[in-house]
Amino acid sequence: MSDEKRTQETEEQRRKRISGYGMGGVDTVMSVDAVAKEAERIAANAPKEEDLLHLAGGEAFLSIEKLRAGYGRMEILHEFDLRIGKGQSLCLIGPNGAGKSTVLHSIFGFTNIFAGVVRIGEKDVTHMKPNQKLLEAGVAYILQDNSVFPDMTVEENLWMGGFLKNRPEEAREAAEKVFEKYPRLAARRKQPARVLSGGERRLLEISRALVMQPEVLLVDEPSIGLEPRFIDMVFEILEDLQKTEGKTIIMVEQNAKKGLEFADIGYVLVSGQLAKAGPGDELLEDPDVGRLFLGG
Ligand SMILES: Nc1ncnc2c1ncn2[C@@H]1O[C@H](COP(=O)(O)OP(=O)(O)OP(=O)(O)O)[C@@H](O)[C@H]1O
Ligand SMILES: [Mg+2]
Repeated sequence: MSDEKRTQETEEQRRKRISGYGMGGVDTVMSVDAVAKEAERIAANAPKEEDLLHLAGGEAFLSIEKLRAGYGRMEILHEFDLRIGKGQSLCLIGPNGAGKSTVLHSIFGFTNIFAGVVRIGEKDVTHMKPNQKLLEAGVAYILQDNSVFPDMTVEENLWMGGFLKNRPEEAREAAEKVFEKYPRLAARRKQPARVLSGGERRLLEISRALVMQPEVLLVDEPSIGLEPRFIDMVFEILEDLQKTEGKTIIMVEQNAKKGLEFADIGYVLVSGQLAKAGPGDELLEDPDVGRLFLGG
């Protein structure tokens, strides 16, 4: 058997294996009928493209167009659309497993994209690798999970933000600005990050993104696991980043009240599709949103 032949066969076996596995899970959760009904209902009331553009102030800086994306061969987002103007903030809410984190993953380049386009400014960034996303498209991603380096000092953690961009000098200057703004971090700059409390770590993670000087900030669950005064502090930083530094912010927030109060635009995601969109403060008043996500 030639080498070429052998490679082909292996490739085919691999495809079979993945398709068998990938086709498994979905139908077992909901009957095909129920899924189709739910999808129909959502599609009938889904916001239109012009509504999304209007919310974005008439001109999108970042846009996601008819995106179909997921993991392996499993499609999680079905023709998902998003528009956000430069310097705006957008908050995604929705039930667990709806695909909120997957939207952020897809912008950053962590998913398989089957169809659709992600654009930032004039650039098509759909198939850019995560490291290019930061360097070439100016996107920084603050993960849902803890991402500080525990054995490095607080200031070294901040400088890391600059190494990721190959700009260590600028990073040091930016880090000094962070310390001027947040005395809480300055007081601990020479200590290893592991001594920080949960809230202080979140502060450090968000400040590190600031040192990377991105245009677009993706933030997954900024308030997760924090007590109220830290939640307020985290939202103050985000507000500062948006209002003073002009960053464009897309966030996912389980705390729908906080997220929608903060954001210019709110999106409700259900089963990988956009179910509702509106100004953050209007969605806060929406009875469905209240019933489902605000406990009222
Ligand atoms: N790395 C992965 N590999 C395979 N499937 C994944 C992966 N990450 C998420 N999924 C699946 O994609 C679907 C959407 O997950 P996602 O994390 O986007 O939901 P979410 O809306 O952020 O939920 P939560 O509110 O619980 O954070 C889920 O069914 C999940 O099991
Ligand atoms: Mg999530």
